Amino acid sequence: MTQTPDRLRELRRRRAIEGNIFRISPDTIAVFDADIAARINAINFRDQEVPDPIGDLLAGRREPVSWKQIRAAWGPVLRRLTGAEAVTALYERMDALLAQRAGAQLDLAQLAQEVCTYSLLPIVIDGLSDVDDARIRRDVTFGFTDLATLQPKHSRWSRLRTTATEIRAGFVVRAELRGRARGRRDRRADLTDPLVDLLPTVGYGRAVDAVTALLTAIAGPPGAIGACLLFAMHRHREWTEHLQAELAQVPQTGLHAPAATPITTRFVKEALRMWSPPLLLARTARISISVPPVELSAGQTYVVSPHLIHRDPARWERPEQFDPQRWLARSPGLSAGYLPFGLPPKTCPGAALGTVQLIALCHLLCTRYRIDWADSARPPEIALGAVAVPVNLFGTVRPVTRT
Ligand code: HEM
Repeated sequence: MTQTPDRLRELRRRRAIEGNIFRISPDTIAVFDADIAARINAINFRDQEVPDPIGDLLAGRREPVSWKQIRAAWGPVLRRLTGAEAVTALYERMDALLAQRAGAQLDLAQLAQEVCTYSLLPIVIDGLSDVDDARIRRDVTFGFTDLATLQPKHSRWSRLRTTATEIRAGFVVRAELRGRARGRRDRRADLTDPLVDLLPTVGYGRAVDAVTALLTAIAGPPGAIGACLLFAMHRHREWTEHLQAELAQVPQTGLHAPAATPITTRFVKEALRMWSPPLLLARTARISISVPPVELSAGQTYVVSPHLIHRDPARWERPEQFDPQRWLARSPGLSAGYLPFGLPPKTCPGAALGTVQLIALCHLLCTRYRIDWADSARPPEIALGAVAVPVNLFGTVRPVTRT
């Protein structure tokens, strides 16, 4: 990941010369055509099994387990999490986190990461003791800090520390699953809970991996794009005023319905086009795949970049310009070359929830708080690492006093 900025620049240069599909190395192909990438991905992940040979052997399980089974189990929980009640609860958690940090001058990109990630934790795993909650928090904090670091230090010590934290988080998840399965801990309305019912089929190893995959997922893209939204508010003050006017009319209990916030929804969609995290998705071909002109053997890698696809001048007018109004005339979707939530069948299952959370973040910062942007010698800008990271974005969040 250290090389991502240079790598991205190089990939962009080569795309301008060679087009959307080219070989990066003998075993890696860049696929920057959204339709071809979608067809490759559909074949590659048609029947993704989740292996756990030792666990299966020990438990005498013979049936293969597919990733689709696990994703399907999350479906009903995720639908409930985007309903009015759950979105209001998410909003209140975000509000409480902002209130804790209000009044002090801060790195606002870091603040957005914390608010987005920590407020999502209870939807993944709820009801933990303070000690266990702190362990999980530490794990996700390492996750988003790593992602936002522009020059990661891969020292042995930092790798060891991260691994130890991941292992501890895995133990917490395992203990929670076991406690719920044995009736010693309460069942909860979180995304860990459906895995308790699946334990006889999938076993503890896969269930723990599924929950830790969720923890990784919430520690990355939501806060990264949340930080970019703040950058866009700073850079495009006229848009902040449009958002303030719209969101002042929408109560927090109405945020689950995107139709209530058309302007903010366009703003969020455009931020996701400009700074879609992660900037590169590298996938290993699980089988031989032929989608002309791409031929992949099992084990080779295809690299998709939502970031570069979203800036393809053949698909987008003025691709480098932040213009939420473009969404008045354009429908989102893969066929339009828009893939901020990745490619089917692996598209982000938290897409709807993630979008609602970003709208909630805008609502909080436009109605309950105001941001006093700090003057800094160097103006805020976006740096490209594994994700787009706003740098020099400092300011103070203050509660709005209501009269
Ligand atoms: C705006 C916020 C978010 C963005 C931009 C985002 C983006 C993404 C992207 C680009 C992928 C990779 C898809 C692929 O491989 O093609 C992904 C995967 C995933 N996301 Fe999100 N995500 C967001 C929020 C969330 C939330 C809130 C959750 C949890 C509820 C979540 C859970 C996941 C999971 C579990 C995967 C792995 C899916 C799989 O491997 O099948 N994401 N996300």
